[in-house]
Amino acid sequence: MSKTHKIAIVGGDGTGPEVVAEGVKVLKAAGERGNISYEFVEFPLGGENYMKTGDLLTQETLDSLKTMDAIYLGAIGHPDVKPGILEKGILLDLRFSLDQYINLRPVKLYEGVDTPLKDKGPEDIDFVVVRENTEGLYAGAGGVLKKGTLDEVAVQESINTRKGAERCIRYAFEYCQKRNNKKGKKVTLCGKTNVLTFAFDLWERVFYEVAKEYPDIEADYAHVDATCMWMVKNPEWFDVIVTDNMFGDIITDLGAMIQGGMGIAAGGNINPEGVSMFEPIGGSAPKYTGMGIINPIAAIGAGQIMLDTLGETEAASWIEQGIIKVLRDDLKDLGAGKMGFSTSEVGDLIADFVKNSAK
Ligand code: IPM
Ligand code: MN
Repeated sequence: MSKTHKIAIVGGDGTGPEVVAEGVKVLKAAGERGNISYEFVEFPLGGENYMKTGDLLTQETLDSLKTMDAIYLGAIGHPDVKPGILEKGILLDLRFSLDQYINLRPVKLYEGVDTPLKDKGPEDIDFVVVRENTEGLYAGAGGVLKKGTLDEVAVQESINTRKGAERCIRYAFEYCQKRNNKKGKKVTLCGKTNVLTFAFDLWERVFYEVAKEYPDIEADYAHVDATCMWMVKNPEWFDVIVTDNMFGDIITDLGAMIQGGMGIAAGGNINPEGVSMFEPIGGSAPKYTGMGIINPIAAIGAGQIMLDTLGETEAASWIEQGIIKVLRDDLKDLGAGKMGFSTSEVGDLIADFVKNSAK
């Protein structure tokens, strides 16, 4: 009998719970097929819960989450809560408290999906961004002086540790090693060594040091502004991109757009030695809540990355095959209300494929 995976379900806000429900449906289908068992435990984190109880992420919740094998997250964000409170108090706190130092964001264009890039197809857009997830400008270092006066000073510092850069870069090389890169193995460091001469000097030195341990992987460098340019002009140049927290945040939204949008983009907040958390990258889309028209594929894709990270690689590949099939043959469009199917019908189509047809 295989191991039981203990999965925390954090549906969160807006359409989060709806899309996660479809993800769970698909995970169960893969479980039936592959004899994988789960124990799902729901956690009521999010804006609704905050407005009811005043709690963000409590120590008690954090302690229970630490006993789980993974966290499956829908979305955090509520129109009635001031921006920043839930993001910092829940999402970033989870990433930091669980030391999820990798934010893994695949950028892959599937057949049948429109990209805004002219003359680019699935063979051109297939790379992964490894974003550092616990440091940089997100660390919260800095402060304000003379707030509200004409002499106000605001300082926001980027924290870069050798350990933080090294573990992230090493993860990127290891990931590249395992990845099915048809065009050859390459890791590109995305930085800004021409201006951020302290932070990216550290990153660059560590990058080339770690690269020596992987002689069969090409080590490449691009400034962040140029990275944006190449992602649009020549996305086929990329295989694995490793970068800091802020740059990673920005370039992965660009990445999500060239792979077909927020209905598709998924990622994992990974602590390879601890509890990781998987999420669709799009937000809580409050205006579509409860209508059953939002696209659940990003959430289902997050479930796929979760299974892969938990070591269930075959089951993860069944889910990806299901996503590929439904995108290619069934969905009319990816937008809410335009798919030609309801949220739960899309979940059914993929679950059914996983159970009966995946190879
Ligand atoms: C993301 C989001 C978050 C981030 C926000 C919601 C704090 O944009 O996951 O990319 O900036 O990391
Ligand atoms: Mn972002």
